[in-house]
Amino acid sequence: MLILLAQLDPPKKVFAILTGKQDGLAETLKQTTPKRQMATKRELTAMSKVAIITGGARGIGASAVKLFHENGAKVIVADIQDAEGQALAEKLRSKDVSYVHCDVSNEEDIRNLIDTTVAKHGKLDIMYNNAGVLDRAVGTILDATKADLDLVMGVNVVGSFLGAKHAARAMIPQGNGCILFTASACASIAGLGTHPYTASKYAIVGLAKNLAAEVGRFGIRVNCVSPYAVVTHMAGRGDMDEAGGKVEEMEQQLSALGNLKGHVLKAEDVAKAALFLASDEAHYVSGLNLVVDESLSHAFATFLNKKIQ
Ligand SMILES: NC(=O)c1ccc[n+]([C@@H]2O[C@H](COP(=O)([O-])OP(=O)(O)OC[C@H]3O[C@@H](n4cnc5c(N)ncnc54)[C@H](O)[C@@H]3O)[C@@H](O)[C@H]2O)c1
Repeated sequence: MLILLAQLDPPKKVFAILTGKQDGLAETLKQTTPKRQMATKRELTAMSKVAIITGGARGIGASAVKLFHENGAKVIVADIQDAEGQALAEKLRSKDVSYVHCDVSNEEDIRNLIDTTVAKHGKLDIMYNNAGVLDRAVGTILDATKADLDLVMGVNVVGSFLGAKHAARAMIPQGNGCILFTASACASIAGLGTHPYTASKYAIVGLAKNLAAEVGRFGIRVNCVSPYAVVTHMAGRGDMDEAGGKVEEMEQQLSALGNLKGHVLKAEDVAKAALFLASDEAHYVSGLNLVVDESLSHAFATFLNKKIQ
């Protein structure tokens, strides 16, 4: 059957056979396409799900908080930056966004985060393990210290592990759920991050894939978002003069190193990828590491763009 389908002129004939409507194909397509588009829009704008976003006070996490909230989710912002987390929840002026102090490397904090969420909303649909730290901006293997490794492992890996474990504790009895992680393009592009940070992000991708294999039978999906460089607090934004155009300057420099010209990666873009993975539109997507890097991890366009003499 599969070979037969592959020999046909895709996708129209395949579509016709699968729908059992070979006759009047044009009419079939005309009738089904608008309905499909309407369904897509409705599902994305009315998520009505309960989501925890760790590291939600700043950067990518804060963008995800805003975007998930705009799309109808009840959001719990979890962070150690209490003033910023609370200010974000207040700024959104909604009873559907609240802040919980949580150090993701502390199991009691994570346990409390999950239990408080389920007590308040009756369920947990999405656990977005996004909180992370960087050891330092640059560093060779000779510069790197065990303390650097302990730092990134303690937050990035331990935090993701504990977040996933306690989310699964709530989701398994529900028979559904979505666990997300922010890993990094440095788990796809060698040389992009420091050794400790890169090792921590590979560990997160491995955890996500292994977990997807285990919890699929409970209806739980597990995926990663892996961004290329975004100018957030972690990347030095806190010290930059926004008004003086320094953020924009750095964004332009990072963009110039990339493959897709004229595009700048913003925290919102990463949040949009996470929203897709969290939505019902991605109901068949699990075990994926969605690399948001405009193909940099596998692009080497030099030969294509030059004539070799
Ligand atoms: N910015 C980038 O270029 C980039 C690229 C790839 C991946 N990432 C990843 O994206 C995620 C978000 O980073 P960001 O760029 O938004 O940085 P950010 O510094 O703006 O935000 C990180 C957030 O995590 C919180 N956090 C740190 N330690 C925590 C802990 N122990 N418990 C709870 N919260 C804690 C911080 O307070 C902060 O709010 C991180 O996992 C990071 O590794 C970032």
